[in-house]
Amino acid sequence: MGKVAVAFAAAAVVAACSVAAVMVGRRMKSRRKWRTVVEILKELEDACDTPVGRLRQVVDAMAVEMHAGLASEGGSKLKMLLTFVDDLPKGTEKGTYYALHLGGTYFRILRVHLGGQRSYLDVQDVERHPIPSHLMNSTSEVLFNFLAFSLERFIEKEGNGSNSQGVKRELAFTFSFPVKHTSISSGVLIKWTKGFEISEMVGKDIAECLQGALNRRGLDMHVAALVNDTVGALSLGYYHDPDTVVAVVFGTGSNACYLERTDAIIKCQGLLTTSGSMVVNMEWGNFWSSHLPRTSYDIDLDAESSNSNDMGFEKMIAGMYLGDIVRRVILRMSQESDIFGPSSSLLSEPYVLRTNSVSAMHEDDTPELQEVARILKDLGVSDVPLKVRKLVVKVCDVVTRRAGRLAAAGIAGILKKIGRDGSGGITSGRSRNEVLMQKRTVVAVEGGLYMNYTMFREYMEEALVEILGEEVSQYVVVKAMEDGSSIGSALLVASLQS
Ligand code: BGC
Repeated sequence: MGKVAVAFAAAAVVAACSVAAVMVGRRMKSRRKWRTVVEILKELEDACDTPVGRLRQVVDAMAVEMHAGLASEGGSKLKMLLTFVDDLPKGTEKGTYYALHLGGTYFRILRVHLGGQRSYLDVQDVERHPIPSHLMNSTSEVLFNFLAFSLERFIEKEGNGSNSQGVKRELAFTFSFPVKHTSISSGVLIKWTKGFEISEMVGKDIAECLQGALNRRGLDMHVAALVNDTVGALSLGYYHDPDTVVAVVFGTGSNACYLERTDAIIKCQGLLTTSGSMVVNMEWGNFWSSHLPRTSYDIDLDAESSNSNDMGFEKMIAGMYLGDIVRRVILRMSQESDIFGPSSSLLSEPYVLRTNSVSAMHEDDTPELQEVARILKDLGVSDVPLKVRKLVVKVCDVVTRRAGRLAAAGIAGILKKIGRDGSGGITSGRSRNEVLMQKRTVVAVEGGLYMNYTMFREYMEEALVEILGEEVSQYVVVKAMEDGSSIGSALLVASLQS
């Protein structure tokens, strides 16, 4: 071989070696980045871990806080609000009633006709619209004028048919925010949640505001009850099945109510009701316990929210927030590695990833996870390999599993407080094995997160059995109540009239 050829060969070897070195270097770098991402996932899994022992601590804390909230005003983060609902609809109600429901994301209007027997419940018309976002931080006048206008249009559509005798229409106002009631049909807003921020409304009587707006429009309607959405769901549950004593909403926000003995509501001594009980709106979104598995993502989400240091439990379990927790994890992964390609500014935008997208990704059953790819593309992240898409699904799973399991612990806490968890409540000192004679207990559940996100529902129901044990679980029935909050509120108004 001549000198030139040797030089060529040597140069080729050097070139090949450096290409290989670059490739090895790149591979090592990409492996390191992948390892970083896997560590972030692992850290998330550990921080969100909810073994049954921890869930039982949450159960106990919930029951203890319920007692404290009933004992004195401000005695707990759980407000345990009186609703003045002491009689729930029985199924014998008659007539035509209306409900207007201001939820977290949607408002609904509906009309029900009741024929005097359970089976004669006819939900005649349901309108469901997204709440225009500008209303959430407008003024009370703008909000209530909008609601009155929507009701007017609803009524115009029904013609004369439903109101042929010219009687005043009786309306339930389902208002999914914390209210301090002075009667079943009046109460003042305590605070906003779920991103609403109309500060001048805090302290105002909500039913009065709506009635005023209806009067201004000349609508012949009477706001006969102001009802929390959980109480509406309980009413519908009870109407169909009198063993229903607890209702929970898992929607944009989350909350629970239940039927409590009046003598257990110590902060209102002398409270008398004909039934000897009253529905208590727990406002459990504000529940807090050091046993809740909190991550740095929860802390940041809370700090950047419009109601920081508030609604800590809701921020871990409700539909408004799950998407944003997932987004925060993905954002961190994309910042600390390049597995999502060039960084997308969209990913930094709070609440851009909605929980319905999380559910669509989590439940994507296409072999190539095309739905995950599509949603990531909408977030400005294109062409991610399958293994990264799988990682995103895993993040959704961890966040939703924690939410479902904590939700179950919340429900079990209520069951414990009312002595339906088989342990005899928090004061009995019975051992867990000493199962009391169980009464059948129905828990009515409503809300988009529960209705539409199968994995959330499954995790919740599975954890409830895990906490209560197979034997007690047989007596606890979880029943979905589609549109229960609005329909049930209308039923409540009907029961007031009969
Ligand atoms: C509100 C509750 C409501 C729940 C579910 C929470 O943010 O404070 O009043 O019941 O959301 O809609």
